[in-house]
Order: sequence, then C-alpha cells, then structure tokens
Amino acid sequence: MAIILGIESTAHTFGIGIVKNGKILSNVREMYTTETGGIIPMESAKHHKEIEEDVWRMALDEANVDEKEINGIAFSNAPGLAPCLIEGMKFAKKKSKELGVCLIPVNHCVAHLEIGKITGARHGRTPKNSSEEFLQGAKDPVLLYASGANTQIIAYSAGKYRVFGETLDIGVGNFIDNFARFIGQGFPGGPKIQELAKAGKYIELPYSIKGMDVSFSGILTNLKQKFEKGEKIEDLSFSLQETVFAMLVEASERALAHTGKKELLLGGGVGCNTRLQEMCKIMCKERGCKFFVPSRDLLVDNGAMIAYLGEIMFKKGIKVEGKDIDNVDINPRERTDDVKVTWR
Ligand code: ATP
Ligand code: FE2
Repeated sequence: MAIILGIESTAHTFGIGIVKNGKILSNVREMYTTETGGIIPMESAKHHKEIEEDVWRMALDEANVDEKEINGIAFSNAPGLAPCLIEGMKFAKKKSKELGVCLIPVNHCVAHLEIGKITGARHGRTPKNSSEEFLQGAKDPVLLYASGANTQIIAYSAGKYRVFGETLDIGVGNFIDNFARFIGQGFPGGPKIQELAKAGKYIELPYSIKGMDVSFSGILTNLKQKFEKGEKIEDLSFSLQETVFAMLVEASERALAHTGKKELLLGGGVGCNTRLQEMCKIMCKERGCKFFVPSRDLLVDNGAMIAYLGEIMFKKGIKVEGKDIDNVDINPRERTDDVKVTWR
C-alpha cells in the first residue's frame, strides 16, 4: 500500500493531489490569474506561497487521509517558470522533512502522458466528456499535449518519451488567448472562442505545418489583420478552430503512422475543446485507433497527475531520501526527451 501526495506548481496553477494504489483520492487546484492572463512569474510564485498550506489541508481532507499516512511526496521539478518551480520545491522539501518521507521529482509533461493510463477510471466513473472507449486507460499512446504554454506530440520509444512534433513558436493556448484578448474577449480565451465558433462560417486562413511541427504566429497576425478589416468574430473563431485543430490532428496522425501506435491521448487545457476532441475522434476512427480524453480536472495542470506518476516511480524505487533531498533541484528547461524512463 502506498499513499503519494503530488504537488504541481510549474506555472499559473498550484495543485495538490493524493493517489493511493493508482486511484485518485483528491485533486485540489488554485490558479493565479490576472485580468489579461499574462503571467508574472514572481507574482505567481507569491500566490502559490500564500495558498499552499490551505491547498495541502484541503487535499488531505478531501482524500480523508492523515498526513502521517503519506509515504512520499512527488512534485513537478520541470519544466516551467523558475520562481514557481522553486516555491513548489521549497514546500515539498519542507513537508518531506517534517513527515520524514521521500521526495520524488517528476517531469510535468511526462505526468500529462502517464495520467492517460487511468483515464476514465477516476473514482470508478467515466469522465463527463467521455464515450465507452475511455473506460480503459491508454497503454502506449501518442500524446497530443495542447496547453497554454506547450504544444507537443509525444510518444514512448526506446527508453524515453520522445517529442515527435511541437510548436516552433508559441503554445496553442497562448495563441488562442492572445487572439481572444485582441478581439476583446478577455482571458481565458479558449472557451470564448469555442462559443463564438458555433455561429461562424469558414474563411480561409494560412495553414502552417512542417512535418510534425506546427507554428501559430503567422496565423495570429493574419487573424488580427482580418479582424481589423471587419471580418466577423464568429467567422474568425470558427476558422481559427478548424484550421489550427486540423494542423494538430494532422501532426498527431503522422506521429501515429510513424510510430505504429494505436492510441491517441489528449492532454493540456486546450484539450477541453469539444471541437478538437471531435476532430481527434474522427481521425482515430478512420485509422482504427482508440482515442482517450481525460476529464477536465486531469487535462489542465493538476497535482493528481504528479502524484500518479510519483507513485509509479516510488514503487520502482525511484525516489530521494535523507540528506540527498537537499541536493534535489528544479530544472526549468528540461525537455521531455531528457527524462530517462526507468519505470516502464
Ligand atoms: P502548461 O504549463 O501546461 O502550459 P497552462 O497553465 O499554460 O499550462 P493549461 O492549464 O493546461 O495551461 O490550459 C490553459 C489553456 O487552455 C488556456 O490557454 C485556455 O485558453 C485553454 N483552454 C481552456 N478551455 C479551452 C477550450 N474549451 N478551448 C480551447 N482552449 C481552451
Ligand atoms: Fe501542463
């Protein structure tokens, strides 16, 4: 029996989740927000510091676990914004010392992928946005990781999670948020654009994909120009979704073909978009692949996925104890394929 607590603090979100034998007992999140959505790393870190003890308490209460029952503390030490990562690490070290338990540093991007293994199994229920296929988690998926800051297509190959494709400029979520702000829709833009798109029709936009890599800044400029020329925001929103999601789905399909894998998994906040989910589903059906989408609270940044991967690593003995805890550090620029996957 192992109870692992996971701490997430790579960017906006401070989250704590608790996992026991592969089951999520709790998943509490607090988000640092600004009017514009722009993130000031030091301010975000300050936010995390202010609420960390409360989130700790809430996560334990929700899980009905006493802190003395915890066997290890996992935390996201990479990649992300240095001040935010440092705050999470300080808190994790403090708690691990107080409780006399081990520390398990976890890569945030890899956690997004690993959590797909229990997609649909949370509390034994099917997530809201699911269909029957999701009842069983993904075993060896291609991950389309589409969040604010990140856009990557990741899959396991020869001892590592490799990045098969990624954005060459900004993350897809930041791209959507930037455009939404430009047309006066506020932050976060994703849900607003999704709503507006329902009443829109198609206008041609640049389509930017090279192999399995994508880029968004040219499309952003083009959208802004079209807006200034008076095109309707509904049409622009619709066309944005159709174009950019088609790019992501095309790159994902190439990764599936290239790796021969038969499962696609969504991760990241943009994965909440129902049109993106629908397009992924259609592509997977045509290819005879399975499609997995976690529930919303596991798509966005969260502590449960950190705890979940932490527990897998803990059970394989990948953990830091005693004096070595002082040597653990953050790694803001660690790449997904820098991580040696020794737990598979
Ligand atoms: P990361 O550090 O992983 O990049 P993040 O905090 O930037 O994390 P997430 O919390 O994973 O990102 O997701 C936030 C993003 O998801 C925002 O850009 C937001 O606009 C986008 N988003 C949320 N809901 C939707 C939606 N329905 N459609 C499109 N985008 C969405
Ligand atoms: Fe993330």
